[in-house]
Amino acid sequence: MGTANMRCPASVLNFYLLFCIVLHLFVAGRCEDSPKKKVDDDVVDTGNAPDHKISGWDIYKRLFAHKRMDHKDAVSTIVAMEGYAKQYKMINILLDNIFKVIPDAQTSLQQAGYYPGPFPENTDIKDALSRLLENVAFFGDILLRFPDMTHDVLKKHKEWGVIIEAAVVFCNQTQLYSEGVSQEQLMLVSQELGLIEKDPNYFNPFSKEGKMAQEQQMLQAAKSSHDKPKKKKDREKRKGPRLSRSKNEL
Ligand SMILES: *[C@@H]1O[C@H](CO)[C@@H](O)[C@H](O)[C@H]1NC(C)=O
Repeated sequence: MGTANMRCPASVLNFYLLFCIVLHLFVAGRCEDSPKKKVDDDVVDTGNAPDHKISGWDIYKRLFAHKRMDHKDAVSTIVAMEGYAKQYKMINILLDNIFKVIPDAQTSLQQAGYYPGPFPENTDIKDALSRLLENVAFFGDILLRFPDMTHDVLKKHKEWGVIIEAAVVFCNQTQLYSEGVSQEQLMLVSQELGLIEKDPNYFNPFSKEGKMAQEQQMLQAAKSSHDKPKKKKDREKRKGPRLSRSKNEL
């Protein structure tokens, strides 16, 4: 029979899935050569601009977009995990990895004398920069979706706060962000981290504080709609952290 055991495989599967994602993100990402070639082929296959040579930068933007989807999948998997403890554990594992990769990439970039700006040509620099950009973006996803847990983990690793601050500022100056890719996410991340002043309208509905702010706003809205009756807004169902009147990413 073993119906009592039926629960176990689901969580094992969950963990296994996450494990695969982690492996994929942190290990596969290191041997950059094959994935790059693959995307290169993809680009050529789509027949985009046949006469036009595709720049390393264009290829990278595609690769970055692919990685971002993996990141979103990983976050969804954590969201689907049952229980605070499991999620917390998983976030710890992920942040542990992220804060190994980021300083490592920072060191490589520093040693190579790369200043943030145009996308590099050199393979090693490119590799280090992509690891930095991707891990900062992934960290941002985790932070924005699990703000309280992430802040809690960061409190226990003070050095990570310093690392991520430098990394965010650095990434912000790279071509990726100066061209506006993911710019909004980085702005939200910077506010959530307190690196820049929070917009008065900023709140993260996934944080305790944000939930309270949201309730306050709804209360206020309810009060004012007392005077101007029957104007039902459906603003409550926000999907992610955001500034007012801006599209969000998550
Ligand atoms: C990122 O760069 C933009 C434009 O240069 C700037 O307005 C913004 O404050 C920067 N954000 C951070 C976190 O440094």
